[in-house]
Amino acid sequence: MCIRITGTGRSLPENFMTNDDLAEIVDTSDEWIKSRVGIERRYIVKNETTTSMAADAALKAIENAGVSPLDIDLIIVASVTNDKVTPSTACQVQDIIGAENAMAFDLNSACSGFVVALNTAMAYFKAGIYKKALLIGAETLSKIVDWSDRGTCVLFGDGAGAAIAEADESVMTGLVQGTDGIRGKALDMDGMPINNPFVKNEISGSGLFMDGQAVFKFAVKIVPKCVNKLCEDNNIDKSDIKYYVLHQANSRIIQTVAKRLGEPEEKFPVNVHKYGNTSGASVPILLDELNRDGKLVKGDKIILCGFGGGLSWGAALIEW
Ligand code: ACO
Repeated sequence: MCIRITGTGRSLPENFMTNDDLAEIVDTSDEWIKSRVGIERRYIVKNETTTSMAADAALKAIENAGVSPLDIDLIIVASVTNDKVTPSTACQVQDIIGAENAMAFDLNSACSGFVVALNTAMAYFKAGIYKKALLIGAETLSKIVDWSDRGTCVLFGDGAGAAIAEADESVMTGLVQGTDGIRGKALDMDGMPINNPFVKNEISGSGLFMDGQAVFKFAVKIVPKCVNKLCEDNNIDKSDIKYYVLHQANSRIIQTVAKRLGEPEEKFPVNVHKYGNTSGASVPILLDELNRDGKLVKGDKIILCGFGGGLSWGAALIEW
């Protein structure tokens, strides 16, 4: 039993911010940002939330797949920027879209989140437990970045992407995933400190910390490794892959990965210039663009790959 994506959707905030807008807040420039990471603008929420964008993307994916919310038996939301501790974003989406027959939960695997959600659904499908999943990557990273740190605040954006995935025995599917918690400090952010009758802590206001060079080295090593393993495990050649749908962290990571794999850059669609790095939302947003632009046809083999905080990585080979 394997997995086929039958519909996709995306949701972006109305408000966007150019590099020039950012240069009014921190000491940076359009030239620096474009040349280092390829980002030209990013969407930043004013009225939207992680949940509202997740539900909006979900409804578009449901419509695109032509399914009823009542047919969905599994909802997974990948996010590190949930609006509430409880209920989960997935349970809130279940309520908004009326998917009352589903089991819903959130998953935290940072920028690999959507692909890890897909792999989780794949495992449930193989076990015969669920048949139709709604998978969402949704982030409001503008809530957690340090807006005074020019090294990180220029990189991220808000948004959500969603896909309907259905169990299908006729298609080829493979997965690779893993984590390296030992090097997890390269992307680090504290949660709520202990605060109880015995221990008092100030809530610190520090945002996301990133060791940019460590993340870069990790990414350009792990993604080719995942791609080669997927091809090897599934007995296919890289020439059989139509697109590599990679997490949109930055354009230099994507170019370096293409070079290391010896694959043409045209096989690596990029949209980071429009959205910035939307963490777990980037892969489904890009997938939705490819789908709605008619760039994917039945039978196409594509590799999705997410990598990031944890450190974590997840890759999936799927057939359209
Ligand atoms: N504008 C202008 N100058 C800046 C900016 C900025 N926005 N940010 C940093 N600089 C300066 C630094 O202060 C430093 O100045 P100094 O030499 O006077 O001290 C200089 O630029 C070089 O800084 P580095 O941090 O060493 O820059 P580096 O060459 O490593 O490039 C970058 C930084 C582009 C982030 C790179 O490390 C990278 O691509 N890393 C990958 C990280 C990434 O994409 N993370 C995304 C989140 S994680 C994920 O999604 C997987």
